[in-house]
Amino acid sequence: MKEFKIQIIEKVTGAYPSIKEVLGVETFENPKNSDFGDIALPCFKFAGILKMPPVKIAENFSLLFTGDKNFEKIVNINGYLNFKFNREEYIRLLCGEFRDGNIFNKLKTIGNNKTIVIDYSHPNIAKNMGIHNLRSTIIGQSIYNIHKFLGYNSIGVNHLGDWGTQFGKLMWALEEWSSFEEVEEKGILFLNDIYVRFHSEAEKDPCLEESARIWFKKLENNDHTAIKWWKLFIKVSMDAYDKIYERLNVKFDYITGESFYIRYLDETIKKLEEKNLTEISEGALVVKFDENENMPPCLLRKSDGATLYATRDISAAMYRLTKFKPYKVIYVTDIAQELHFNQVFKVIEMYDPCSKGKFKHVKFGRLSFSDMQMSTRKGNIVPLNEVLDKARDKAIEIIKERNAVISDKAETADKIGIGAVIFNDLSVSRIKNIEFDWDKTLSFEGETGPHIQYSFVRILNILEKIEHFETNIDYSLITDEYSYDLLRTIEQFENKIIQSCEENEPSVIANYLLDLSKTFNRFYQNNRVVGVENDLQNSRAFLIKILQSVYAKCMDLLGIPIIDKM
Ligand code: ARG
Repeated sequence: MKEFKIQIIEKVTGAYPSIKEVLGVETFENPKNSDFGDIALPCFKFAGILKMPPVKIAENFSLLFTGDKNFEKIVNINGYLNFKFNREEYIRLLCGEFRDGNIFNKLKTIGNNKTIVIDYSHPNIAKNMGIHNLRSTIIGQSIYNIHKFLGYNSIGVNHLGDWGTQFGKLMWALEEWSSFEEVEEKGILFLNDIYVRFHSEAEKDPCLEESARIWFKKLENNDHTAIKWWKLFIKVSMDAYDKIYERLNVKFDYITGESFYIRYLDETIKKLEEKNLTEISEGALVVKFDENENMPPCLLRKSDGATLYATRDISAAMYRLTKFKPYKVIYVTDIAQELHFNQVFKVIEMYDPCSKGKFKHVKFGRLSFSDMQMSTRKGNIVPLNEVLDKARDKAIEIIKERNAVISDKAETADKIGIGAVIFNDLSVSRIKNIEFDWDKTLSFEGETGPHIQYSFVRILNILEKIEHFETNIDYSLITDEYSYDLLRTIEQFENKIIQSCEENEPSVIANYLLDLSKTFNRFYQNNRVVGVENDLQNSRAFLIKILQSVYAKCMDLLGIPIIDKM
C-alpha cells in the first residue's frame, strides 16, 4: 500500500533527514514470510550514512511508530523492519482508492497524452491471415488498449503488405487462368490457391517469373489493368480481414500499407544520400553499418532499381516521426524480423540521432498447432477464421455437455472460443513459443480463457442478486483472511498495469487475472455474500463490486469478451 509506505518514509526521514536521498517507495520489499508482516523495510543501505549496524537502525526506526494506529505490529528481523498493517485502516484506504473509478482516473493521467504509434497485425494482401498475424493482432491490440487506458494517445497502424513482386505473379496467373468476376466471387482463398499454383507451374517453366516481373512493372507504372487487379486484391483481402477484426474487436486508426510510402521513396533515399549515409555496393544502393554493429548492410535499392521492404519501412519511420511526433513507435512482429528492424532503426538513428530509443521492436515467438490437420495446410497458412470457427464449435459442444441454460448459444460459444484463443496467446510471455492445444485451451479448468470468463460470470451472478448497494461500509466486516487476500490482490492492479505497459507485455495482466480469479474463488467458497446479515452483505458486496470493476477492466485490456451466462 503506497499510502502506508509514504507515511513510513515521512516519519523516518523526519527523524533521520540524511537518508532522504536513498529512501523511496521502491525501497520496500515483500517480507520473506507473510507472518512477519505486509511490507518490509531493509535497513542495510542506511548503515553507511547513519553509521550504525542495520539491526540497530531498524530498532531505532521501530521506536518512531509506537502508538501508530496504522500498524498492528512492527518487528525487527535481522535488519529488516517488518510492518503489519492495521487491517481495517488498510482496507479503508484501499477501498477509498478503488471506489467510484478513482483508481482508473488516477491511472489515466500517466501517459500524459504522449503519442504511441503501434504497428500491428499487418497481414500480406492476397494471403489469408496466418497464425503470426493472429499473434501480432492480439498482442498489438492489447498493447494499444493498455496505453490508451493509461492516457497515452495510442495510434494503431495496419501496415499492410500490399506491395511487391508477388502481385505481378498473381496478375499474370489470373489473366491466364481466371477473371475479375471469379476472384470477386471466390475471395481470398481462391487467391491463395492461385498463388500456390503459380509457384508449382513456375518450377516447370522459369519464364513465368519474368512474366510476373513484367506485370509488377506495369503496376509500378500505374497501368490501368494492373491497378484494377491490385485494387481488387486489396478489396477481397480486406473483406476477409475485416470479418476477423470485427470478431476480435480490433480497430485501427490508419490502414496505410507499404504502398502508401511509395510516393516518398525517392525523397527518403535523397535524404539519406544528403547525409552521406549511402554507398553503391555491387550495383545496389546500401547503407553500411559500423563494424561493431555486427549487421549486414541495409539494402535500399537493388541494381535493377527496385526498392525493398526495408526502404519502405525507413520511409514509413520518417513519415511517422514528422506526422505523429511520437514518443514511441512500436512494431509488433515475430522474432524472425529482428534483423530487419535492427537495420531499419539503426538507419533512422544515423539519419536522425534524436530518434534513438524511440523505435521499438516488440517481438514474439512462434505459435504452432498440435492439431496436425490444421498445421499442414497448403501454403502453410492456417486460416484464422477457421481457427475461430473451430474454437466456437468446440465451445458449443462443451456448453451442451455442461447443460448450461443459455439463450444465445452460438454467440456465447463464439465469445468463449475467442476468449480461449486470446488468453492462450496472451498468458505466456510473448517471446515464448506457444503450442495451441484445443482441449487445454478450451477447458473450463486450469489457466484458460473460459476459466477467466467463468469466474467473471460468478462475480456478476453475485452482484445481480443484490438489490441495492450501500456506500456506507463497515470495513471491520471484511478483515477476514479471504477478504483480506482478495483485497491485497486487488491492490496490485496499478502496478501490474504499469508493468505490462512498460514491458509491452500483456501476459502480466493475463497472469494477474488468474491471481484475481484464484483469490476470488477462495473467497467465494468460504464467504457467503447474498443472504447473510445486512451489514455483512453490504460490505462483502462492496468488495465484490470493486473486484468486478478491476476484473472487467483487465479482460477488456486483453480483448477477452465478457459473458454474463455460461
Ligand atoms: N507484412 C509483414 C509480414 O506479414 C509485417 C509488417 C510489419 N510492419 C512493418 N512496418 N514492417 O511479415
